[in-house]
Amino acid sequence: MNNNKLSSEHIHNEDYDADYQIVPADWKSMINTASRKTEKLDGLWNFAIDIYDSGIRNKFFEEITKDDLGRDIPVDFNFDEWEKVKVPSNWNMVKKEYLYYEGTTWYTRKFTFYKGSPDERVFLKIGAANYECRIWLNKKLIARHIGGYTPFFVEITDFLEKENRILIMVNNTRVKNGVPALNTDWFNYGGIYRSIELIRVPKDYIKDFYIYLIPNSNFNRIHVSVEIDGEKTDDCNLIIPELGLEKDIKIDPITKKGEIEFEAFPILWSPENPKLYQVQLKYKNDKINEEIGFREIKTLGTKILLNGKEIFLKGVSEHEESIINGRAVSEEEIIENLKLVKELNGNYFRLAHYPHSEKESRLADKLGILLWEEIPVYWAIDFSNEEAYENAYNQLSELIIRDRNRASVIIWSVGNETPNTDERLNFMCKLAKRCKELDSSRLVSAACLVNIEELKIDDKLTQFLDIIGINEYYGWYDRDFNKLKLIFNNSNPKKPVIISEMGGDALAGHHGTVDELFTEECQENIYIRQFEIIDKIDYIKGVSPWILFDFRTPRRLNQFQRGFNLKGLLAIDKKYRKKAFYIVQQYYMNK
Ligand code: GCU
Repeated sequence: MNNNKLSSEHIHNEDYDADYQIVPADWKSMINTASRKTEKLDGLWNFAIDIYDSGIRNKFFEEITKDDLGRDIPVDFNFDEWEKVKVPSNWNMVKKEYLYYEGTTWYTRKFTFYKGSPDERVFLKIGAANYECRIWLNKKLIARHIGGYTPFFVEITDFLEKENRILIMVNNTRVKNGVPALNTDWFNYGGIYRSIELIRVPKDYIKDFYIYLIPNSNFNRIHVSVEIDGEKTDDCNLIIPELGLEKDIKIDPITKKGEIEFEAFPILWSPENPKLYQVQLKYKNDKINEEIGFREIKTLGTKILLNGKEIFLKGVSEHEESIINGRAVSEEEIIENLKLVKELNGNYFRLAHYPHSEKESRLADKLGILLWEEIPVYWAIDFSNEEAYENAYNQLSELIIRDRNRASVIIWSVGNETPNTDERLNFMCKLAKRCKELDSSRLVSAACLVNIEELKIDDKLTQFLDIIGINEYYGWYDRDFNKLKLIFNNSNPKKPVIISEMGGDALAGHHGTVDELFTEECQENIYIRQFEIIDKIDYIKGVSPWILFDFRTPRRLNQFQRGFNLKGLLAIDKKYRKKAFYIVQQYYMNK
């Protein structure tokens, strides 16, 4: 019996977790962090794998190490002697023994906090933790979040001491009503894999700020909406120095929100000229600066128009992953991926199948690459489960509020390869509507499957989308390219279609005939034949081959794959370019 109160509760109570499932933080608690000075809590944290949930069962967070008479008692934790891991990181990459671990883990560290101005407010931001996360600060459970790919915030002003201990539980167990659910073709990296930051704001501060060029085909009106938190005693002041613009934005004392529209003639952002403007917003003692590109994206019939000109999205898909860092990719690795899109003569990047680092859309703004961003409503989601819907709705809201000031983002995707059923349609058409509620300036899509019996595009979800994404693997999973021609000839979509996935596996350096699966020649031939067909279909306005580089996935077990999906145009080291890379590069150069 090793419980400090000699009770047997911790070994007989299997309902031990019930008291710790507090209401999760969600999109409503997000704050704009653009240009805000933050104090990173990144670095070495103490860490432990906790397969049996001992931490919750034995209430480690209470840190009881003495009995009522002050005598030391044996406990099953000593935070400061636990091993050290880097935050941010995925524990799977820390050591071989942890590669396939799925379950509960603990991160903890102490930190000293020096109070600033007497009325400042302090928030904690977790960039991303996969999959469920709970946070104790100074022994108090202050936050919980569900969803492994979006940031969340909690105000800690009243919980901070000078000397603090933060204790974070992260559990990456896959669950049936999760988003994603149990089965994905990607690796379930766990951990706190994007930065943890303290953010100090004045008592009254700018909570959210959203600016865009109104898609009126005249490129001459800007919309700004602002939300403040705290006391409403003033209006907001917007300045765009390079446009010689200064505007006051009236804040409603009840909603604490305000919006304004005004005429302006900005140089339009585009891949060829990724022009960004400094935009400042002030409210009392608070000030944020954003770098904003002004552009318009819309559809006209089956055309996609960027700034009024027809565009073909010459792209590629990617998972957020690197052989060294897992999902905790570095800024250098993100830049490397974006530069590979440019090397392919591309202008577009499908960030599959979940929100990538917010650094990626900021860098794409600078480099001039258009983005498809997506939430992990993937394959067999429990579409009749209300919790699953709330979770998807929240992850989508967090993604859009995080990135809707990024010119590079042109498409929000509400999911990938979900079944053409009524439950799923009800689930996803509401998500499509949510996109428009939060952002009327971008397009909504999803990666859909074709009707393989009738060989045509007829997914019911397409009526709720601006752009139809189609995943098809003719030449690979179905070796008959003629079916692809039939599908396109049998279909008559009234809106643009993007081939959101196509391709085939090839083991880098493995050569043979075009008919031998997993050879580079077989993969190369798929691209040659696919582009021959796609190029003749006028309503296809973009392609994002699957995938830029090979990636880890536990589903892939044959003697070529050995735990990796080999559909990359590059090997996982992102150095070796397979023969198919040059087919895509050539096609885009001529497009
Ligand atoms: C699907 C799915 C991808 C998967 C790919 C494949 O289309 O969207 O996540 O990796 O096919 O089979 O390689």
